[in-house]
Amino acid sequence: MALSNTDFDYIRHFVRSKSAIVLEPGKEYLVESRLAPLARLKGLESISAVVDKLKRNDPEMQREVIDAMTTNETSFFRDLHPFEALRTTVIPDLLTRRASERRLDIWSAACSSGQEPYTIAMTLREHFACLGNWNVRIQATDLSNEMLAKARVGRYAQIEANRGMPAALLVKYFDRAGMGWAVKPELKHGIEFSQHNLVTPWPVMPKMDIIFIRNVLIYFDIETKRAVFDRVARQLKPDGYLFLGAAETTVNIHDGFRRIQLDKAGCYQLS
Ligand SMILES: C[S@@+](CC[C@H](N)C(=O)[O-])C[C@H]1O[C@@H](n2cnc3c(N)ncnc32)[C@H](O)[C@@H]1O
Repeated sequence: MALSNTDFDYIRHFVRSKSAIVLEPGKEYLVESRLAPLARLKGLESISAVVDKLKRNDPEMQREVIDAMTTNETSFFRDLHPFEALRTTVIPDLLTRRASERRLDIWSAACSSGQEPYTIAMTLREHFACLGNWNVRIQATDLSNEMLAKARVGRYAQIEANRGMPAALLVKYFDRAGMGWAVKPELKHGIEFSQHNLVTPWPVMPKMDIIFIRNVLIYFDIETKRAVFDRVARQLKPDGYLFLGAAETTVNIHDGFRRIQLDKAGCYQLS
């Protein structure tokens, strides 16, 4: 399905206004490859017909176009080092600092289909049995309702389950479900999934001990990144930890953070 210049312009402005995702000229192929299947699924003969529905403020089409244009790539233990840093440094430090209140608030912002919050939960259960009698809350949020639905159900195809996950953890925390695997209820315990757009007003949330906001800011322009970092700085406890994706940084964007190296993981704290 061909995409006209005016339709591409309309879509990129629409996507940016709803999600902050920047689609530069040259990304026409991406829009075509994401929206042509959606058009076909909806029985529409062209991407222009999708655009017409957007122009008529069709809420379902608006949601589905945003869902289609987000990149949801993720995996269990993605990049490994942040989870190693949790195990070796971050959680031991917070166990001492929060010993009196016995409470930890962790946020996986832009959690996609759930692999990140489930990886955090597995890391805590595997290495910190003592947290069993703490109040540990993991907030897992994303813009995409479709991804959140999958995350909540917690069912993964064999290939998704194998990517990054040690076999011993797979059999310990997942049950066989048809051709794939389903997260065991006890691993879901304490994880709360909800929809959250990083670029619209944030709901009231507790201040966080740890924030993961990985592999989403790369899609935003620098002003939007700065605005998100402003809010992250207010949401993080003064001694809390921020993890970004491997290609993301606060350096030269926001001076409210300092980068610290925790073995092989880069991490940020309020400066
Ligand atoms: C590439 S995935 C990253 C998943 C996970 N954090 C990881 O690193 O593996 C990016 C996610 O960001 C979400 N996203 C895009 N724009 C967003 C926004 N404005 N607010 C919240 N989430 C957004 C997408 O829906 C997608 O699930």
